[in-house]
Amino acid sequence: MGKFFAFGPVILTRVFGLLLKGPLIAMTELMFRQQRILSLLSGKLQIKRAITKNKGIKGYCYKGKTGLKKGEVKVKKYNLVAQGRTADIFEWEENRVLKLYKDGFARKTAEKEFNVVRELAKKELPVPEVFELITYQKRWGVIFEKVSGPTMLEQIASNPGDIIGEARRLAELHKNFQIKVDIQLLQFKALVKKSISRVKEINGKTREKLWETLDQLTEGDKLCHGDFHPENVIIGRDKVIVIDWLTAAVGNPLADVARTSIILKLGAIPHHKSEEEIRVMKKLRDNFYKEYLKHYLKITGEDQNLIEKWEIPLAAARLEERLPLKEKRALLSFVEKCLV
Ligand SMILES: Nc1ncnc2c1ncn2[C@@H]1O[C@H](COP(=O)(O)OP(=O)(O)OP(=O)(O)O)[C@@H](O)[C@H]1O
Ligand SMILES: [Mg+2]
Repeated sequence: MGKFFAFGPVILTRVFGLLLKGPLIAMTELMFRQQRILSLLSGKLQIKRAITKNKGIKGYCYKGKTGLKKGEVKVKKYNLVAQGRTADIFEWEENRVLKLYKDGFARKTAEKEFNVVRELAKKELPVPEVFELITYQKRWGVIFEKVSGPTMLEQIASNPGDIIGEARRLAELHKNFQIKVDIQLLQFKALVKKSISRVKEINGKTREKLWETLDQLTEGDKLCHGDFHPENVIIGRDKVIVIDWLTAAVGNPLADVARTSIILKLGAIPHHKSEEEIRVMKKLRDNFYKEYLKHYLKITGEDQNLIEKWEIPLAAARLEERLPLKEKRALLSFVEKCLV
């Protein structure tokens, strides 16, 4: 009898299965599908997807209301893989990632990164392939090729012996991207000026001096990344790519190198580290920076004095960002010291 209770449901299902084979299978399938749909709906992210072909942006679908052909809406779950300051990155199908910009970023932001990366990919420069522009709730996003591997920063942190090689790699990558591009981008110098004008910590006198310094520096017409540092380089197994082209502009390449210098020289080391760890990390970072600069000057024949001159407005402009207080103080004292 006990055995019947244990196996009863199985036997009954079998009997019913034999009697109602067709309908039962159909019902089970339906239940299974409903369960799947429920689990997808409770997933982290559901996307209403439409538009775009590899060749270009064909149109937009906002919340599936316009331009969506029958069968083009898909509901799926995507896992969060990284969170940056401007976007959340989700795992996408077919070895891709979705960079979903945070609330408040306009469509033209996503479009800009899409266009810049597409242009660079066309020129066969080391960037991820770019596929689609999408919307999810009021947020815009771009789908990129996923390149698995550590960022250059992670690579150096886990293998300090690689510092010299990676610093040279960063310099070479930087030089290779400093080309003329056929995309409409804002002038880097004008953007720097705009950022400085928004920094509250800079007083009138210092600001005047900064304008004078900027006036002496030439604008330039080459691609500037705007945030070229080891965290925006992914070292994949088959290729090394540069990501995060949201801040791209056109201008003097030395201004872009100056921005990298400021980050590498004055960037705060996370405060949860011990004094000793901070000292060691600073030393490693200094070595990395020195080699990056030395190698860049060697392969480009550029003038270090000009890079140093650009560093002053670039440090001032960086004060606009949300940074640890310690880093802000270091930037402000650097600017004031350079301008006396
Ligand atoms: N194509 C990619 N393939 C694999 N991982 C990626 C890719 N693009 C971005 N990521 C992951 O997402 C992280 C953040 O990407 P990204 O720098 O583009 O975002 P962000 O919000 O602009 O970041 P930031 O904090 O630098 O402003 C990267 O460090 C990397 O871990
Ligand atoms: Mg980044």
